[in-house]
Amino acid sequence: MSVPFLNLKAQHQALKAEILSAVSEVLDSAAFAGGPYVAKFEEEFAAYCTTKYAIGVGNGTDALWFALLALGVGPGDEVITVPNTFIATAEAITYCGAKPVFIDIDEETYNMNPALLERAITPRTKAVIPVHLYGQMADMDPIMEIARKHKLAVVEDASQAHGAEYKGKRAGTIGDVGCFSFYPGKNLGACGEGGACVTNNPDLKAKIAMFREHGQAKKYYHTVIGWNGRLDGIQGAILSIKLKHIEKWTEARRAHARAYTQAFANVHGVLTPKEASYARHVYHLYVLRVKNRDQVLKNLAEKGIHCAIHYPLPLHLQPCFSYLGYKPGAFPVAEAAATEVLSLPVYPELTEAQLDEVVDAVRSFFQSSVK
Ligand SMILES: Cc1ncc(COP(=O)(O)O)c(C=O)c1O
Repeated sequence: MSVPFLNLKAQHQALKAEILSAVSEVLDSAAFAGGPYVAKFEEEFAAYCTTKYAIGVGNGTDALWFALLALGVGPGDEVITVPNTFIATAEAITYCGAKPVFIDIDEETYNMNPALLERAITPRTKAVIPVHLYGQMADMDPIMEIARKHKLAVVEDASQAHGAEYKGKRAGTIGDVGCFSFYPGKNLGACGEGGACVTNNPDLKAKIAMFREHGQAKKYYHTVIGWNGRLDGIQGAILSIKLKHIEKWTEARRAHARAYTQAFANVHGVLTPKEASYARHVYHLYVLRVKNRDQVLKNLAEKGIHCAIHYPLPLHLQPCFSYLGYKPGAFPVAEAAATEVLSLPVYPELTEAQLDEVVDAVRSFFQSSVK
C-alpha cells in the first residue's frame, strides 16, 4: 500500500457537495475579491482564535508582511526570528526593508529559545517573530516578557498552528498580531491561496486592512503605499465550510501522533516529538528525529511511504541570505535538527491501516539497522 505524505483529495471528497454549492453561491453573487463571504469567514475565524478581529489576506506571507508594516517596521530596523522556519517568515521582514536577525532554537520543541533572545536585541530591534513550528507554540511567556521590557512588537507566525494553545491561550492571541496561512496543506487550508492576521488591537486591524487594499482607507484615496493582498470570496466561502471541521481534524491529527509516539517509544534510534507541558500541539507535522535521516527517507519511499523534511537548510545558510554574513555553526541546534528531522504523514484522513504501514516500515528499518 502506498501512503502519500498528504491526501487533500480525501478531505475534499467528503466536503465536495457543500463546497461546490458554496462556490456556486459566490458565482451568483459575484463577490470575488473581499466581500461578504470574506467578512463572514473573518468573523468566524476571529471567534475560533478568540480575538476581536481577523483580517483575511492573500496568503500567509502577506499576513506577516502586513503585520510588520502595521507595526511600523521599516528600513534600518531589525526583526528577530528563528532560522528553522519556512522562508516566508524572513521574506516578510526583508519586504519591509528590515534585516532578519536569527537566534537558535530549543532542542526539544524546535521553537525559539527565549534564553537567547535578550542578547540579540540591539537599538535597531523593532520586533520579534516567534514561529509556532510544526503546530506547537513557542514558549510565549518569557518571549513576551523580554519583548515588553524592550518595547518590541511581537508577531506570532502561527501558519502551522491553527488552534494550537499555550497555557490555554490560542495561537495568535498573545503577541500584537497572529499570522496564519491557509495554503492547501495547512491544518485549515483553502482550495487555493489564503491567509489571515488576527489581533485585538483596532488600530492594527485598520492598518492591516489598509495595507491589503492598496493602502486605501477609502476607495481611491491612498494613505500609504499598500499592496493587492485581499482574500478572495470563493476561498472565504470554502474556509467557512472547512472551519467547522477543524477541531475534529485536529483531534484526528493528535490521535495519530499519540499512536506514532507509542509505537516508536522503544525503537532504538528514533526520537519522537516532545509535547511541552504548556502546549496543545496540533501536529501540522509529526516530526521524528533520526541520525541516518536521508537513508530512512529513501528506504520508506522505496516502500511507497512518502515523508518530507521541514526544513533541510536553515535560513541563515540559504544563498539568498548570504548578505547577512552568517556562517555554518552559527546556530548549532537548528543546524543539527536540519540534518535529522523527518516528517511522517499525519493528515486527519490517514487510515489506521496506513498508519500501521508507516509504523511497520519505520520499525523494520531501525530493527534491521541495529543488528
Ligand atoms: C511557518 C510559515 N510561515 C509562513 C508561511 C507562508 O504562508 P503562505 O505559503 O500562505 O504564504 C508558511 C506556509 O507556507 C509557513 O509554514
